Amino acid sequence: MNLKTLFAGLSFASVIVSCANDDPSTLIDTTLITGLATYNQNVKSIIDNNCVVCHATVPKNGAPMSLVTYDQVKNAVLNRGLLTRISLENGNSSLMPQGGPRLPQTTIDVIAMWQQDGLLEK
Ligand code: HEC
Repeated sequence: MNLKTLFAGLSFASVIVSCANDDPSTLIDTTLITGLATYNQNVKSIIDNNCVVCHATVPKNGAPMSLVTYDQVKNAVLNRGLLTRISLENGNSSLMPQGGPRLPQTTIDVIAMWQQDGLLEK
């Protein structure tokens, strides 16, 4: 096998592996966001599905704040390191959601995109 064939084979294999790692039920592709990312359209459902079980209106399980409203989530990005906390590796005790598993990268990318776009509400 020459080098070219080997390389083609390897890149093909990595495509298959990366697809296999994406859970379709949680897959949110940033390329599907048209225009700017907003809290109402892109972010709220992610927080509701992954964080509000603890970061509820009355926070549970030791969570220090709620992540229920736009202002609360925006404040957590600006002052509580939300993006850093969800970007940690599996096994890091500071990873959010607490206890893991880490959110799919495509989901983390949506929150990062929201920050880059200026943390718009709608
Ligand atoms: C199982 C309960 C639980 C879930 C689910 C959870 N958290 Fe937390 N969170 C906690 C607890 C407990 C703390 C306080 C301990 C710590 O800082 O690690 C915390 C702390 C935080 C902090 C740091 C707050 C500060 O001021 O220090 C952020 C930011 C955060 N969570 C964001 C999130 C986000 C975003 C999600 C969803 C992706 C999430 N959490 C899901 C329990 C949870």
